[in-house]
Amino acid sequence: MGQLAHQHNALNLSQGFPDFESDPELINLVTEAMKKGHNQYAPMPGIYSLREQLALKIKKLYNANYNPATEITITAGATQAIFTAITAFVRPGDEVILFNPAYDCYQPAIELCGAIPVNIQLSAPKYAINWSEVQSKITPKTKMIVINTPHNPCGTIWSKHDLINLENCIRDTNIIVLSDEVYEHIVFDDQVHESVCKFSTLKSHSLLVASFGKTFHNTGWKVGYCAGPQSLMEEFRKVHQFNVFSVNHPIQIALTSYLKNEENYLSISNLYQQKRDYFLEAIENSRFTGIPSQGTYFQIVDYSAISQENDVDFCKRLIIEHKLAAIPLSVFNVDGLDQYQLRFCFAKKEETLYKAATIISTL
Ligand SMILES: Cc1ncc(COP(=O)(O)O)c(C=O)c1O
Repeated sequence: MGQLAHQHNALNLSQGFPDFESDPELINLVTEAMKKGHNQYAPMPGIYSLREQLALKIKKLYNANYNPATEITITAGATQAIFTAITAFVRPGDEVILFNPAYDCYQPAIELCGAIPVNIQLSAPKYAINWSEVQSKITPKTKMIVINTPHNPCGTIWSKHDLINLENCIRDTNIIVLSDEVYEHIVFDDQVHESVCKFSTLKSHSLLVASFGKTFHNTGWKVGYCAGPQSLMEEFRKVHQFNVFSVNHPIQIALTSYLKNEENYLSISNLYQQKRDYFLEAIENSRFTGIPSQGTYFQIVDYSAISQENDVDFCKRLIIEHKLAAIPLSVFNVDGLDQYQLRFCFAKKEETLYKAATIISTL
């Protein structure tokens, strides 16, 4: 869709990245780190001061303890952390449970390991989890459950109740939970992010993945991290060592300083809530309908009042005829299930959102 949008010079609300810059202070910190000569390999698990800063942040936000020496690893973005976690643990014939719609990098990594993805389909518009269905999918072969909250593409967040249910499902098993929490700092309407690390049994089974690119508006820098109990982290690092070894050094130095001011990440929900509210208000009178996003910078809308075309064709027509790009939700489902839903990314300047809303209102 991004390519088609480019060809047709369409406004691009498809891919998930901001059209505004990272904080100049952070950019200066990276420049400074380079000028000070931090331009060679960083230690394999990441620089210690950044891991220490992250341990403090996780403790403050979620009251969970991770040892920075042995339980946190800096990664080349969340995608690498996810791939590393899956390849470290998943073997041929293992079953891995995931929820669809799902972010696109989970399934291929599972398949590459020769494992069997066990897909649980969620239904629009609420995409709620049916916990008895999850329980029924767990077998002696279940190696891992992949979760994502706040959720891309659905814009839903898991409640405390969901996390407790998950904890009950994995209690007394050896199942590993891979928890993709890259949008942890983008949660709306005074709700709180429920991290796996807030629940002690769950924490002991989980690898938690986060991304600085999502939090600090620099998806092109590709720096993230993984936190998990030592026994899991030891295995994670065995793979990390030989497929990445070392992650961008000056950016790690810069992030260590930048994270010391908690406002730098605590203010992000507010920034995106304003954008979500602006976008929703601007499309209020259109024929698109949708439940306000609870987290992430994505808004799902239903277009069934406008067209009965399948979502891929509808998106293509939106680009070609109306010069606006979105993502059809069916691409996040394994069997292409189409529920007449589109995803718009609202990590955009107000003027971009205004232009998009003007087009949307004519449909
Ligand atoms: C749910 C989810 N996980 C992981 C990623 C990848 O993050 P990174 O760019 O840090 O690899 C994304 C990016 O869109 C995402 O939406």
